[in-house]
Amino acid sequence: MTKSATSLVRLDRAGIRKGTDWLVRGVDLSVEPGEIVTLIGPNGSGKSTTAKMALGIMKPSEGSAVRNRGLTVGYVPQKLSIDWTLPLSVRRFLRLTNPLTDAECDEALEKTGAKRLINAEMRSLSGGELQRVMLARAIARAPGLLVLDEPVQGVDYVGEIAIYDLISEIRSALGCGILMISHDLHVVMAAADQVICLNGHVCCRGTPSDVSQNVNYQALFGARAGTALAVYEHHHDHVHLPDGKVQHDDGSLCSDCLGEHHEHDHGSDGAEVQLEHQNAR
Ligand SMILES: Nc1ncnc2c1ncn2[C@@H]1O[C@H](COP(=O)(O)OP(=O)(O)OP(=O)(O)O)[C@@H](O)[C@H]1O
Ligand SMILES: [Mg+2]
Repeated sequence: MTKSATSLVRLDRAGIRKGTDWLVRGVDLSVEPGEIVTLIGPNGSGKSTTAKMALGIMKPSEGSAVRNRGLTVGYVPQKLSIDWTLPLSVRRFLRLTNPLTDAECDEALEKTGAKRLINAEMRSLSGGELQRVMLARAIARAPGLLVLDEPVQGVDYVGEIAIYDLISEIRSALGCGILMISHDLHVVMAAADQVICLNGHVCCRGTPSDVSQNVNYQALFGARAGTALAVYEHHHDHVHLPDGKVQHDDGSLCSDCLGEHHEHDHGSDGAEVQLEHQNAR
């Protein structure tokens, strides 16, 4: 694969074997600053295992995983291993792994819309609240690399959009690279720079547009595959002329076909994404 000196993390032909079984094998992957790389694939296809190799939590049995020296990493794991019988406030949870001041805790929670939860008990949080707190912990130290393993699980629809927007904002504000795992194909196809589709190995990869046309991707995701990218592509096969007529790509003009061109909203891309996303659910 093409290697860049600026890669935050890079896996080369990386794989993990347990006993005689390969959990995942032959993964090439790199994340550059400011880039969103998304892993997709069915349950058990090796997404979390790949993320853990990138993080250094699991050491590849073959191939390599290299992180930039001094890289700060924020991680939202798919599952938390916490002893829920012990009392633990959100504030203390944020400080378990980071020496954060009160102001830093507040600021991180504010960004994820969870400031009011600062003194709440971790074990009493709802699923969506927990995800917001986890994201706050991951971004609190302004990481160079953010690894998000299904960051919107348990989050309601409005919250989900808000969290994906927030992830984009964080990328812009911090310039960090993001390695994300998501089952939400619509968001993946809208937000990722690179998509890697896993099924025990890399089944296909590329830009959302490349991947959406790949037969392996289509075979894995079936009917969902076809619509995921389509709703985000703004097919400008026509222009609206000042006199209200519509001119098509082939030069033909019409004055009464306006309605046919407006399944989509000509507002901001974000608005369109949200609208279509909602429709697709
Ligand atoms: N520590 C482990 N020991 C043995 N097998 C493991 C271990 N961790 C994961 N596996 C197995 O490896 C495979 C890949 O697991 P992984 O958690 O990476 O899948 P995933 O793509 O993240 O799935 P999901 O969408 O369900 O989260 C699964 O079959 C899982 O049972
Ligand atoms: Mg997983």
